[in-house]
Amino acid sequence: MSLIEARSLRRDFVVPQRSSFARARTQTALAETDLDIAEGSSLGIIGESGSGKSTLIRLLLGLDRPTSGTVTVDGRAVDASASARSLHWLRRQTGLVFQDPYASLDPRMTAEQIIREPLWALDIPGDHRARVREVLAQVGLEPEMANRYPHEFSGGQRQRIALARAIAHRPRILVGDEPLSALDVTVRAQILELLIDLRRTTELTLVLVSHDIGVVQNLCDTVVVMKDGAVVERGATADVLLHPSQEYTKTLLAAIPVMPAPPD
Ligand SMILES: Nc1ncnc2c1ncn2[C@@H]1O[C@H](COP(=O)(O)OP(=O)(O)OP(=O)(O)O)[C@@H](O)[C@H]1O
Ligand SMILES: [Mg+2]
Repeated sequence: MSLIEARSLRRDFVVPQRSSFARARTQTALAETDLDIAEGSSLGIIGESGSGKSTLIRLLLGLDRPTSGTVTVDGRAVDASASARSLHWLRRQTGLVFQDPYASLDPRMTAEQIIREPLWALDIPGDHRARVREVLAQVGLEPEMANRYPHEFSGGQRQRIALARAIAHRPRILVGDEPLSALDVTVRAQILELLIDLRRTTELTLVLVSHDIGVVQNLCDTVVVMKDGAVVERGATADVLLHPSQEYTKTLLAAIPVMPAPPD
């Protein structure tokens, strides 16, 4: 059994029309999609803007309700109607880094409070203060920075705080929506190393939306390519990136800027 299983997963949005005479339009953000993610594996999700990548990962995490279809994590049904107990369990299993770290960090909380909050909310045993310092170091931030507020950090530092918060409770599954996009080359290389290391030393399962082929190449075993709410190609990372079968994938890869190789 796969750790994460999606079956015929679909999400439609009703888009109101500007004129009150026009009928509301339905937009399919995700058409029937099947997906299997094995424990300890790493999946990259690529595709043009608006292709349904964020919609898909939100559904996988029970943050959004599918129009139809199912998601299970470790055999348990996950959707917005799941019990509080299941959602608590799911939160314990997962760490999440959103596309926009500024929007996801509470401006009234210090970095320390932001990183500690899930440890407290999820009843994680151990010394939370010490764990905060440990993960801050892991993402390359100084312990003194723990007392600062989100607006006192640069974009890349905020992204690192979001990542520290996501990994602090040692989740089994880490899901990132462009988690490295706001980082400069050096920090990006450091965070990449950290993620590679977490994958090597733990059974971490990684699901990563990325526009950055270098990140996908370094971190992901398999890739799915999305277009207009559908998976148009999937396979082993090397196969998809080096020998794409779809014209769309070829065009997409040609258009994606390749970040320079990290310095040694
Ligand atoms: N809450 C919503 N209401 C209406 N339409 C939505 C909503 N969320 C997403 N959509 C639409 O669904 C489609 C898929 O959106 P999604 O955010 O999943 O794309 P994406 O692949 O993550 O794009 P990007 O790379 O720009 O983040 C888009 O056409 C978007 O406009
Ligand atoms: Mg998105």
